[in-house]
Amino acid sequence: MNFFSYRARSITPYTAGEQPAGGFVKLNTNENPYPPSPRVAEAIASFDAARLRLYPQPNADILRDALAASEGVSRENVYCGNGSDEVLALSFAAFFDAERAACFADVTYSFYEVFAAFFGVRTAVVPLKEDFSPDICGMRAADCGGYFLANPNAPTGMALSAAEVEAFVASVPNRLVVLDEAYADFSGESCVPLTQKYANLLVVRTFSKSHSLAGMRCGYAVGDAALIEGLFRMKAPPRASRRSRTPHIIGRRSPAS
Ligand SMILES: Cc1ncc(COP(=O)(O)O)c(C=O)c1O
Repeated sequence: MNFFSYRARSITPYTAGEQPAGGFVKLNTNENPYPPSPRVAEAIASFDAARLRLYPQPNADILRDALAASEGVSRENVYCGNGSDEVLALSFAAFFDAERAACFADVTYSFYEVFAAFFGVRTAVVPLKEDFSPDICGMRAADCGGYFLANPNAPTGMALSAAEVEAFVASVPNRLVVLDEAYADFSGESCVPLTQKYANLLVVRTFSKSHSLAGMRCGYAVGDAALIEGLFRMKAPPRASRRSRTPHIIGRRSPAS
């Protein structure tokens, strides 16, 4: 007897890369070979394990506030997820579908294709240019509802300047640009400030790479409050008949009831 749903049957399972024990730098996952800041170790050492008996804040508001302060935005502009992978996955689910295609480069973060397939999102794949830079004109011409753009791109390492990103975002006001800044700290330029100016820009960032905290699984998005609300809808869909989200959240917190 196969109990798989249609969706589970139609998916080719993702095979995670090998995690060899000790002494290796894994280039394919771009793990940071250096340890995180000593202040991370201090914070972990001072953590009161008794707090783990409580469920966490459902929306991670303490972290959202801290990120909002450091990024110069408001809490309503920040969404925190289980790694930026979860934020990217929810972006596919919240903003794209079979009609509204997601456009991305042929050589880019391989999970875009995986998430699109999982959520039944149509894709428009545009080849990189000969010098491996993104073909902005080709992307603009694509039949799509928006874009996933890794900047710098992975695995090519090519980056658009903030001015180039701005020109692109401004030229497609009716399409969403999801800018994946997993490696932006290495290029020294983030486009987060542009989210204050453009409601069609969602910047996704992670603690996994430059902060050397891949094991913590913490990523976040910064963008217009309406986009952040879209991500929350996918995370914990409120029941249609409820006027308030509160009973839903209490339900999640009390699994035995
Ligand atoms: C371009 C890009 N985006 C996003 C991610 C996901 O990172 P995480 O889920 O650890 O935040 C990766 C991880 O390798 C990546 O290369």
